[in-house]
Amino acid sequence: MPIRSILAGAGGYLPERIVTNDELARTVDTSDEWIRERTGIKQRHFAGPHETATFMGTEAARAALAHAGAEVADVDAVILATSTPDQAFPSTAVRVMAALGVKGGFGFDVAAACAGFIYALSVADGMIRAGQAKGVLVIGSEVYSRILNWEDRGTCVLFGDGAGAVFLRAGDGSGTDRGILSTHLHAQGTLGDILYVDGAVGQRGKPGHLVMNGREVFRHAVTRLAEAVDEALNANNLTRADIDWLVPHQANQRIIDGMGRKLGLAAERVVVTVDRHANTSAASVPLALNEACQDGRIKPGDMVLLEALGGGLVWGSALVRM
Ligand code: COA
Repeated sequence: MPIRSILAGAGGYLPERIVTNDELARTVDTSDEWIRERTGIKQRHFAGPHETATFMGTEAARAALAHAGAEVADVDAVILATSTPDQAFPSTAVRVMAALGVKGGFGFDVAAACAGFIYALSVADGMIRAGQAKGVLVIGSEVYSRILNWEDRGTCVLFGDGAGAVFLRAGDGSGTDRGILSTHLHAQGTLGDILYVDGAVGQRGKPGHLVMNGREVFRHAVTRLAEAVDEALNANNLTRADIDWLVPHQANQRIIDGMGRKLGLAAERVVVTVDRHANTSAASVPLALNEACQDGRIKPGDMVLLEALGGGLVWGSALVRM
């Protein structure tokens, strides 16, 4: 019997503190008008001291389990995507396992910047299909406010904090078309210097700040994501008309609009949170997916296309029948 990864539930967590563009403009040389026009962002959430990647990831995971009607005992793996872990090790994933009370199983982090959730989902799907796990929490959790350079107005206005999660359950793939149909991952390391963090715990005294060539990233995002979308459709013999919902990475409204146009999807079929969350990196796709599941837009049976691109460059897509 073929095994499929069924997306059984989704959850999210956003920090309590909301920071509007006007509030940012009090300390950064920018304006609400510039940020809205170029990016679509109106506000973002910034984490307080207790709202770490572990804390937020745990809250999102709890919500995903509750949505799935699952228990902590059903979890045998946690795969967590983050570029802003609390510690070099243990991984944020195992900290989440401890906070949830998961006994046994295994957990690890995935570092693929803003494409982290798609990468983690792909790894989880592969492990479920291979029979290595039956219940997997896939989490994206980020505190980019801790790595932003407040002197660089070209980047510090673009990001926010938060966490999103899904619970995947191994299901019988025969006689059903529910579940993850396929995932598609890509990387081009030669483009590593157009979006990166200029430090790490391995570099003494230099925790690092995010650095970006926005125009170059924009240019590659439009091309690469369009390719990843075509690849996902072709791999499943589907056409654009088969897609019910696009849940894209939430970096910029103009990139999101471009992807929606490419798929010929009405604007209301594209899930958008960038206006309220800004770019939460690996958390952005699961946060958007969660929102559309909770408010009843995405329903069982819907065909959902996920895509994201981030520093690396790394990018990918996933097709899921809910
Ligand atoms: N407020 C006001 N002015 C700003 C500003 C801000 N926050 N940031 C930059 N500017 C200014 C620049 O200084 C520049 O001024 P100048 O023309 O006097 O030199 C002008 O705005 C244009 O800057 P530029 O960087 O060329 O703008 P842009 O049109 O490329 O837009 C981004 C910048 C970042 C919004 C855009 O490049 C982008 O969205 N890129 C993709 C980013 C992305 O998706 N990243 C995440 C991928 S995971």
